[in-house]
This record gives sequence, structure tokens and C-alpha cells, in this order.
Amino acid sequence: MRKERKAQFKFNRCLKLFCFFNFQIGPSYFVILNGIDGIREALVERGDDCAGRPEMFIKSFGAGGKGIITHSFDSDLQEQKKFALRSLKCFGLEGASMEARIKRESISLAELLLEKAGEAIGMARYLQLGTSNVICSVTFGERFDYNSGQFQFLLDQLDEQFYTNPFKYLLQIARIIPKPLRKRMSWMDLASPAEKVLGYLSKVIEEHHTKFNPDCLLDIIDAFLLKQEQHKAGYFENRGESAKSFNNEQLKYLLLDFFLAGTETTATTLNWALLFMIRFPRVQDKVQEELDMLLGKDPNAVASMSDRRSLPYTSATLLEIQRIRPVAPMGTPHSTIRDTCLHGYELPKGTPIITNLWSVHHDEKYWPNPEEFVPSRMLDEDGIIIRPYSFLPFAIGPRACLGEQLAKLELFIFFTTLMHRFSFSSLQGQPMPSLEPHLGISMTPKPYKLCITQRL
Ligand code: HEM
Repeated sequence: MRKERKAQFKFNRCLKLFCFFNFQIGPSYFVILNGIDGIREALVERGDDCAGRPEMFIKSFGAGGKGIITHSFDSDLQEQKKFALRSLKCFGLEGASMEARIKRESISLAELLLEKAGEAIGMARYLQLGTSNVICSVTFGERFDYNSGQFQFLLDQLDEQFYTNPFKYLLQIARIIPKPLRKRMSWMDLASPAEKVLGYLSKVIEEHHTKFNPDCLLDIIDAFLLKQEQHKAGYFENRGESAKSFNNEQLKYLLLDFFLAGTETTATTLNWALLFMIRFPRVQDKVQEELDMLLGKDPNAVASMSDRRSLPYTSATLLEIQRIRPVAPMGTPHSTIRDTCLHGYELPKGTPIITNLWSVHHDEKYWPNPEEFVPSRMLDEDGIIIRPYSFLPFAIGPRACLGEQLAKLELFIFFTTLMHRFSFSSLQGQPMPSLEPHLGISMTPKPYKLCITQRL
């Protein structure tokens, strides 16, 4: 427990001292924003001014400004985000097909886990198998077999990318280390796991080119190829639309962003959820009671998103998990795209900004005893889910998470399916796994094992 307090202290110290401060690493200045008001001011009121990505982040992340996450804030990005959102809707989010896809995936995952009942297992990889398959099936039309060597290889790259030490990451984006030395330190190169995934994506795109049928679009790659063809054929001329940003490199990095951002964040949130369930068995019991009331004892019954209101305690538990352990505690770095003013300070164009989302979720003004896990704080006196003010797991504003809707759907369906079918407990005779986070690019639980018991 002492260690857990230490981690909490490291984050909170920033919050208690300043809501705005800047510091320098090597040649680079950063501004760190703490607390909901400062962060809202930057991401909403001055959202467009602060919607850039720092030059060093763009370069060090390997994508060189392509894709979405590291793209500069310009008309090409708007075009790509519009396309990405439309495609997500088109291939499932609008209507029930995405929900059906996630339900099927959650059942497949539950079946795999059934074989592991009674064993001591780590859940991180299993959860990645489920969440990644959802994103892979919409983006490149392929749902992998869980035993596929190719799938395991891709997920290994993901672990390497996200488990990176944040200090190493800051050094990397601050460009302290001279270029010739950096080149020799391949272990520091954030781009290398991403490059391995890109190699695979290039092959998938190639295959799509050979099978492409404009009358039968199966996934996001097909939709992208159609845009490219239409652009070449002059289809967008005089239509007030354009597709100039639809080139081959952009497609590769768009898919990479979907794969990286779409798998790890959701899988890690679920991994935290199961860890909190074994640390707080009474919360687990209450969630299961609520699920049994709705779904009965049928092991094949799966909750739908429309059941959310009938499952207030379960929904509140998920919200509380996202509050207490936000997987992206520092968001993604922003930068000012023009001179602007924040919190009374003038910031020149190009100033990197870090948004401390952890501070938003642990601010005592809004969350009494913030390090206590209390799902009921997400419910009002009538037991209805509240809309918390100081709560930004997906950030906000023009660079907010593009996959928020998909992520919420996945979290709800995977969590309810697993909790209904299984009970999760710590290993007998072993110390309880720690709630202290491992800080990489995302905030993950330290590796831990649990025991699964079939309930139904
Ligand atoms: C629990 C799950 C997730 C969490 C907590 C999360 C959180 C975040 C956060 C904090 C950001 C940074 C926003 C900023 O720059 O201020 C972000 C950006 C982003 N997320 Fe997510 N995310 C999740 C799932 C997903 C999924 C499933 C996708 C897949 C489609 C996705 C795609 C993206 C993209 C493309 C961006 C970059 C947006 C931009 O730069 O304009 N995320 N996410």
C-alpha cells in the first residue's frame, strides 16, 4: 500500500503546486496543465490554438506527421478525421452491426477463457486479442484466429511500443540525445515496433489493391482506395469536396494509428477493471448481481448498450475505473499553432503542452478521497449515472479521441460478458496484486495473474 501512495503522490504533487507550469528538458520547453479548468481552457476555449502536435513528438513517433495522431492540425487532418469517423460509422458504429461484432468477439474470448478456468493467468494478452480483433476486422477486414503467429507478433510490437518507460519517451521527444548517438541506441527507438507493424500493413494494403471491387467495399482500406480512385478520376472537382490527402503513405499510418490507439487503450482499461474486481470483491458481487437480474443465468446471454440504464452500478464501476486509472494519464502532447494566451500567460506559437488528465481525475475538489475506489460516486441520489464534470478519459476538443464511441461500446460489452460468465479472484496464498501503475506511454497495471472461475 505504501508503494501505491508513492505513485499517487508523484502525480498529485504537480496538481497541488501549480495548475500551470513550464519546464525545460534540454533545448525543449514544455507547459504542463493541471486540473479541469486549465485543461478545458486549452482544449476547448482555445481548442484550435492548441490543436497542434509538437514537432519533436511528430518526428520521434516515426509517423512523420502522417496518419491522425501525429498529424498537424490542418485541412488534410480534417479530411482524414471526417473519413475515419464516417468509415467507422459505415462499417458498424451506426446501426447494430458493430455491437453485434463486439458481442461475437466477447463470446469467442469467453470461450477461450473457459479453457483456462482454474489456472493462474495474466489477462493482458487475452484482452488484447479481443479488442484488437474488433479494430482489425473493421480496418482491414480480417479477424485473426487467437493462435495466429502473425497476430501474436503484432501484439508483441504493441506491448513494446506502449510499455516504453515515460522518462525514455520524454528524452526521446525532447531531443536531448545527439542524433548520431540516437541512431546507435536502437533500444531507444520508439519507431521500431511501429515499423514492424507497418511492414505487415503494407502487405495487407497490397492484397486489397489486387482484390479491390469498388461495388463491394468490405472495410476501411477499401473505402480509402475508392476515395483515391475517385480523386484520380476528378470525381470531387466542383463538388466542394477534396481527397488530396488520400495517398498510400497516409493509408498505412492511418491503419497504424487505428491499430495502436484502438487496441491498447481499451484492453488496458479492461485489465484495470479486472484487477479492481479482484481487489474489491464486494463490488464484483454487486456487478454480477445486477447482471444476473438482467440476463438471468443463461451463459450465452450478452448485454446490449441499450441495457446501460438497467445496469447503473455496472456502468458506474466502469466510469470509476476510467477515473481512478486513466490509461492515458498525460493525454497526447499538444502544441500551440499560433501565439495564444492561457491562464493569463502568453504562449508563443509552437509551445508544447502536456495535459495532465490524471490531475483532472484526482482533484479533491471534485473527487473526495480520490485514490479510493468508490463506484457509487458516479451515481446520483436516485441511482442514475451522473455526467461527471472533472472527468476526461478521452480528452476533449478538436483533438479528442476519435474512437471514443467505439471504445465505450467495447468496454461495456467485454466487461459485462466476462463478469456475467466468470468470477475473478486473486491467487490463493499469493500477495494481492498491486494497484500501483506501471508508467509507460500508457498507464498499465504491473503484470499480475488471477484465477478465473466459471459462474454459469
Ligand atoms: C478506453 C479507450 C480509449 C481511451 C481512454 C482513449 C484516449 C485517448 C486520448 C486521451 C487521446 C488524446 C486526445 C488529445 O490529443 O488530447 C486519444 C486520441 C486518439 N484516439 Fe483514443 N482512446 C481510446 C480508444 C480509442 C480507440 C478504440 C480508437 C480507434 C479508433 C482510438 C483512436 C484515437 C485517435 C485516432 C486519436 C488521435 C486523435 C487526434 O489526434 O485528433 N482511441 N485517445
